[in-house]
Amino acid sequence: MADILTKIDRHIRDLRLASPEELKALFDELRQVFDEELAGALDPDSLQRLRKRWLTGRESIRQRALDHWLKVESPLRPNVGQLWRELLADEGYIAQKLGKPQEQWRVATDEAALARERADLSLPGVARPLGSRHLLRQTFAEIERIFLSLGFAVVEGPEIETPYYNFEALNIPEHHPARDTMDTFYLETPRENSSGPPRLLRTHTSPMQIHTMEKQPAPVRIIVPGKVYRRDNPDATHSYMFHQVEGLAVDTDITFCEFKGTVEYFVREFLGPKIRTRLRPSYFPFTEPSVEVDASCFVCGGSGCRLCKSSGWIELFGAGMVDPAVYGFVNYDAKRLSGYAFGLGVDRLSQLKYGIEDVQLFFQNDVRFLRQFP
Ligand code: DAH
Repeated sequence: MADILTKIDRHIRDLRLASPEELKALFDELRQVFDEELAGALDPDSLQRLRKRWLTGRESIRQRALDHWLKVESPLRPNVGQLWRELLADEGYIAQKLGKPQEQWRVATDEAALARERADLSLPGVARPLGSRHLLRQTFAEIERIFLSLGFAVVEGPEIETPYYNFEALNIPEHHPARDTMDTFYLETPRENSSGPPRLLRTHTSPMQIHTMEKQPAPVRIIVPGKVYRRDNPDATHSYMFHQVEGLAVDTDITFCEFKGTVEYFVREFLGPKIRTRLRPSYFPFTEPSVEVDASCFVCGGSGCRLCKSSGWIELFGAGMVDPAVYGFVNYDAKRLSGYAFGLGVDRLSQLKYGIEDVQLFFQNDVRFLRQFP
């Protein structure tokens, strides 16, 4: 470095010896020295030192050039001036390379960070295990898909109900035997509510029939997915919390035929096109007539097996035409309107469709079970 400076000094002092080309070559060399020093200065401190040495210090190279190189009288003086401007002046090469101190600091730290965090793009990726939707959720989605395609809307309702919505308005008065089959969880009544009605965990999704008809006039076509609760002892087919999808359709011209067609369509969509359906007389307080919907056994095809207990038929869910008494509770005109309702047990339908013998598997969150239904 000192070498070059001395050489330049000497040339400039004795300009008779120098040619414009030689001068330019020397300044190029000087620029190279600067480039090398700049490449080695990666932290803010060394950059600061570099700036001082080349541009701003009292003994800087820029100052030396000002004091010596630019003061010599000679025919080559314009060349010296131009080379000086290009390399050392305010807007010259070095000043531009060093930039503003803060920018340099940013560039330097960015470059250091990039070097430190360089990613090896040839490494194999990390496989992240994906979860999946719970089988019950998948069954809900499947049921919703089928009824949405028929023009039903999906609504949800509260899990805490009053006896009026859970029983009375569904034509199940107090002391009616149907209440016994739905052993009910009652909530403790808070003191500030002691004058209000008792509250309970709904034992079925049917109360939403009443809420919906109270809120809107016919026509109604809804399904109600949700959780329900009963004081059952857990075993392979019982759980104190389980899942239902309620259905309700009410309009001026709904016939038993439409009801039967809808039910059959649902069963075929849900279990497969070969499945046959049978309606068996039954009883529910809120439907008249009431039926149990049976499907031809999809294991044996009807010839008899363990699943259908040799009957060839499997009980799927309860349904029926809405009992006119229910319309009385919601101020619907029973003379003008008719409709049907159904109550699907989602846990039961999942068990049947996927061959799951114990309903408790749904609630144990054992990944060995859950993984089988991606
Ligand atoms: N709510 C009944 C239950 O939980 C199921 C049911 C049967 C619902 C027939 C209905 C229906 O809407 O029409 O046992």
